[in-house]
Amino acid sequence: MGSITLINNETGDKFDFDLIDCTRGPKAVDFSKLFETTGIFSYDPGYSSTAGCKSTISFIDGKKGELLYKGVAIQELVDKYKFTDVCKFLISDSLPQNDTDSLEFDLELRHRSFLHEKLKRMFDVFPDRAHPMATLSALVSVLATLYVDHKEIVNEEGYQTMARRIIAKIPTMVAYCYRNSVGAPFIEPDVSKSYVENFLYMLRGYPHGRMKYNRDGEQEISALEVEALDKILTLHADHGQNASTTTVRNVASTGVHPYAAISSGISALWGPAHGGANEKVLRQLSEIGDVKNVDKFIEKAKDKNDPFRLMGFGHRVYKSYDPRAKTLKKIKDELDKKGIKMDTHLSEIAQKVEEVALKDDYFKERGLYPNVDFYSGIILTALKIPVELFTPIFVMGRMPGWCAQLIEHNKNPHARITRPRQVYLGK
Ligand code: SDX
Repeated sequence: MGSITLINNETGDKFDFDLIDCTRGPKAVDFSKLFETTGIFSYDPGYSSTAGCKSTISFIDGKKGELLYKGVAIQELVDKYKFTDVCKFLISDSLPQNDTDSLEFDLELRHRSFLHEKLKRMFDVFPDRAHPMATLSALVSVLATLYVDHKEIVNEEGYQTMARRIIAKIPTMVAYCYRNSVGAPFIEPDVSKSYVENFLYMLRGYPHGRMKYNRDGEQEISALEVEALDKILTLHADHGQNASTTTVRNVASTGVHPYAAISSGISALWGPAHGGANEKVLRQLSEIGDVKNVDKFIEKAKDKNDPFRLMGFGHRVYKSYDPRAKTLKKIKDELDKKGIKMDTHLSEIAQKVEEVALKDDYFKERGLYPNVDFYSGIILTALKIPVELFTPIFVMGRMPGWCAQLIEHNKNPHARITRPRQVYLGK
């Protein structure tokens, strides 16, 4: 194992620290004893250069624009597997070996997708215009009151049940948030439907039977819509130590109920700098309103005195094109060709924003490219998903990742409570 020598130029003291080897990406210097050895803290607000944990779940190469889940490239998972297969892969390390294996996990999720009657009554207290991210965070906390046994998980079976339960229930909760906000009756999950089809059914369906939706008198939740949303969920399934995953791990480090930690992750994801960006992108494209206004908004994004930022652009790790944005752009174009029409107006503005920004030195020098949120909203709009559900859909996608990361943390016998230090500037 290598090492690094630190010299304090004020005192001339020298300190050696071990380098920690890794299987991919940059090594890390082990600073866990920095203060004990040197009496000095390290300072890295936002943790741009700091690893808070060792993990085997996701790997991101920010320069190459690569994302792997457990060593498998995201494009391969999107092309070959269903979202529920990827969920199983993330929480239990195994991709389904065959269709029977895949269906077995899928069926377990379907049977766990129903909500406790007391949980459904919680919706009566939420105002109609409540943002679904606030509602979801509250509902997931309530799950902790209903499934108390998950507080003390002692074996793999317990972790798997905890994860499968919440992965199964979150689409039902998201659909009910919307139904509640428009005063529509809840549609119970239909266990004959697959994960994504069931979600769209609970979101759009008519109670008691077949849905009258279009001229043919039938609601088609087309296979194309299901496939597109399934891929979108896979693209969101995990992403290393992002803000919301770090929140889940930090809260889990105090020993709380897993669902309390996940509820805090939902709150963290809500922010417009993070998962909330997908909703903001769509609102921003509408605000730009016309391709002729794009240059003006690009200038606003570059103006340090203007708080305006180009939503869906930039990333802490990707200093090249986010591979998920690339795949989403492909999905958008494929859907367009196959008849699920994108909003042409918004699409044109988005394309123009990307074209102008990628030629502009301000964005090039800072490595600012479209991220996962830039195109997702345009596709979700074409799939008739209401804009207030965009970030809740991100929650559905990220749920297996949060569970996998929480399980990894809780299983680590050396995991410690998160308790950073500070540079004190007070009196
Ligand atoms: C997600 O971490 C993850 O993995 C997150 C995520 C996941 O899957 O979990 O990938 C999901 O959150 C994607 C990001 C969604 N957010 C947005 O699209 C919001 C817009 N983007 C920015 O707010 C910003 O780019 C962040 C928050 C994404 C990243 O912030 P950083 O890493 O702290 O970057 P920074 O603020 O230090 O920016 C570096 C420079 C600054 O300029 P200078 O001070 O060097 O002159 O780039 C500028 C910033 O002002 N900049 C932008 C910009 N993003 C960065 N300028 C204009 N528009 C932007 N979008």
